[in-house]
Amino acid sequence: MSGNAAIVGGGTTDWGERDATWKDLAQEAGKATFDDVDGLEPDDVEGLFVGAVQPERFAFQSHVAPLAAELLGIDANKMIARTELACASGQAALRYAWLAIAAGQLDVALVLGVEKMNIGKEYMPEMQSNMTNVLDREFDGVNGLNGPSHFAQFAQRHMHEHGTTREQLAMVSAKNKNHAAETDFAHYSRNVSVDDVLDSYPIAPPLNLLDCSGITDGATGVLVVSDEKAAELGVDTAAYITGSGQSCMSSNSINNLPSITTWPQAGEASREAYDQAGIEDPLEEIDVAEVHDCFSISEIIEYEQLGFCEEGEGGEFIEEGRSELDGDVAVNPRGGLLGCGHPLGATGVSQALEVYRQFAGDVPSSRAVAGDPDTGLIHNLSGSGSVHSVMTLGRDPQ
Ligand SMILES: CC(C)(COP(=O)(O)OP(=O)(O)OC[C@H]1O[C@@H](n2cnc3c(N)ncnc32)[C@H](O)[C@@H]1OP(=O)(O)O)[C@@H](O)C(=O)NCCC(=O)NCCS
Repeated sequence: MSGNAAIVGGGTTDWGERDATWKDLAQEAGKATFDDVDGLEPDDVEGLFVGAVQPERFAFQSHVAPLAAELLGIDANKMIARTELACASGQAALRYAWLAIAAGQLDVALVLGVEKMNIGKEYMPEMQSNMTNVLDREFDGVNGLNGPSHFAQFAQRHMHEHGTTREQLAMVSAKNKNHAAETDFAHYSRNVSVDDVLDSYPIAPPLNLLDCSGITDGATGVLVVSDEKAAELGVDTAAYITGSGQSCMSSNSINNLPSITTWPQAGEASREAYDQAGIEDPLEEIDVAEVHDCFSISEIIEYEQLGFCEEGEGGEFIEEGRSELDGDVAVNPRGGLLGCGHPLGATGVSQALEVYRQFAGDVPSSRAVAGDPDTGLIHNLSGSGSVHSVMTLGRDPQ
């Protein structure tokens, strides 16, 4: 058992409002993934992990991991599972593949994230209700909370306590959407200015339409292998999983969250991952971070908790350009959830594939991270923000 597991490639569907079923999306992403990695075929896969949040509600389908295996011609004869951890389901799938490989149980795993969310604009209440299921239905649900109204409370409180401005929130959206305009599979691919964000219609004050991620269909896959297998394949680039942390502080309902200004769980999860990866100064050492910007306020809080700046200084961090491609740490060069959209189970897998592609230099130069990135991070929050998951990736094994 080597303990090392590496992403050696992957592929994605187009993301957006797709005239495609759950099965179509899984099959498309699977094919794109195998097409991307020379030397690996469905026959080589021993374990399949599928991140999927609500196929039952959006697509009337459960037991989706065996379904995906059948579609892709995989005999997952050692391990097969679906992971459901709301918006972190994709990262959870990756985490379990990593653990299985680190434990010596597998040499090759396919990690897929798949979500079909659009069922027709006329069913918007149903789509919102489906997403709201990840909150506590009896406490938070009956009070009308959904994604935008929940995160709007964090924005209001952050502005009140720390003087964060409406413009600073809009800067996050503009940065990420402008990156997404250079990302071929992104749901939203047009350039957006700070004024566009400020002028878009209100959803849940202070958040406007362009402060929100959208409702997106999409799927992404990555192949994860042991380092013996990576050596055998002779890959030029690998993204090794160097650390993985998670934290949930006895809270699911918003009533029991430790704070509505910040997420100490993100701090805990990141410190756990940094310890494993030997990262002492994240701002200095991390080149590229794909973080969970489901709403513009989220990225500002994440700068603070991931150790890029002090608590309360996230607004200044974006305003000073420190999260730009050539800043102290490039945040969301893919375009984030704000620009790419957020097909719940697929997001974490897509973030990891982006870090791999940044290492491989396989992104358009217009959104390539400056220098020669070799250390990356992915972050997801889930549910009411009660759980945070952080994974570090490196070009070299630990
Ligand atoms: C914000 C929200 C309510 C908007 O829904 P809506 O009012 O029906 O808006 P639409 O999806 O019809 O979009 C309106 C227009 O804005 C565009 N648009 C929507 N979101 C956009 C975005 N993030 N970036 C750029 N354009 C966007 C759409 O393409 C559409 O353009 P068109 O009129 O040219 O077709 C919905 O996207 C939403 O609920 N988002 C949050 C999802 C969520 O909570 N996820 C879980 C997070 S943890």
